[in-house]
Amino acid sequence: MGAGSAVVGFGLNLRPMTDADLPMVAEVEAAAYSHPWSMNVIRGCIKMRYDAWVAELEGVIRGHLFIQCVLDEAHLLNVCVHPTLQGQGFGRQLVAHAEARCEQLGASRIILEVRPSNKPARRLYRDAGFERIGVRPGYYPGHGSREDAWVLSKYL
Ligand SMILES: CC(C)(COP(=O)(O)OP(=O)(O)OC[C@H]1O[C@@H](n2cnc3c(N)ncnc32)[C@H](O)[C@@H]1OP(=O)(O)O)[C@@H](O)C(=O)NCCC(=O)NCCS
Repeated sequence: MGAGSAVVGFGLNLRPMTDADLPMVAEVEAAAYSHPWSMNVIRGCIKMRYDAWVAELEGVIRGHLFIQCVLDEAHLLNVCVHPTLQGQGFGRQLVAHAEARCEQLGASRIILEVRPSNKPARRLYRDAGFERIGVRPGYYPGHGSREDAWVLSKYL
C-alpha cells in the first residue's frame, strides 16, 4: 500500500491529510478531546511532515491519525474518532492502519502516550497488543491538576 487513500471497511476511507482538511480535523478534535490540539498544533504537525491521515465517511471527515516516525521508532501522536461514531470499530481500524503505515515507514516499534483515565483508548491499545512500559508524570493538562501519561509500546 502506498501513501494514497485506502478503503478499510464499513465505508471508511483513509487518505493523507492536506491543509484544506484543517478546519474539519480541528472540529473533530475539539468534539472528541477535553484538551484538543489547536489548529496551530495540527498545522505544525502537517508542516513537520508527520504522517497525517483523515478518515472519511461518505466524504465527511470523521477521524484522524498522526504518526511521527524517526528511524525505526514510530510515535503514534493522535488517534481520534468523532464522538458520534465511537464504539463502532473505527478506532480499531485507525490503529490497524497506523500499524501498517509504521511498518511501511520502516518502524520496528510504536510508542504512544495515553491518559490512565481514558478507558476506551486503553482498551483499544491493549486489544491491539500494546504494553505499558512507563509513566510520564504530569504529562497532560487536566481540570485543576495535571494527569500522568502511560507510555505504551508495541513491537512490529
Ligand atoms: C479512543 C478512540 C479512538 C476509540 O475509537 P472507537 O471508534 O470508539 O473504538 P472502536 O469502536 O474501534 O473500539 C475499539 C475498542 O476500544 C474500546 N472501547 C471503545 N469504546 C469504548 C467505551 N465506550 N468504553 C470502553 N471501551 C471502549 C474497546 O476495547 C473496543 O473494543 P470492543 O468493541 O471489542 O470492546 C475514541 O474513543 C476517541 O477518539 N476518543 C477521543 C480521542 C482519544 O482519546 N484518542 C486516544 C488518545 S491516546
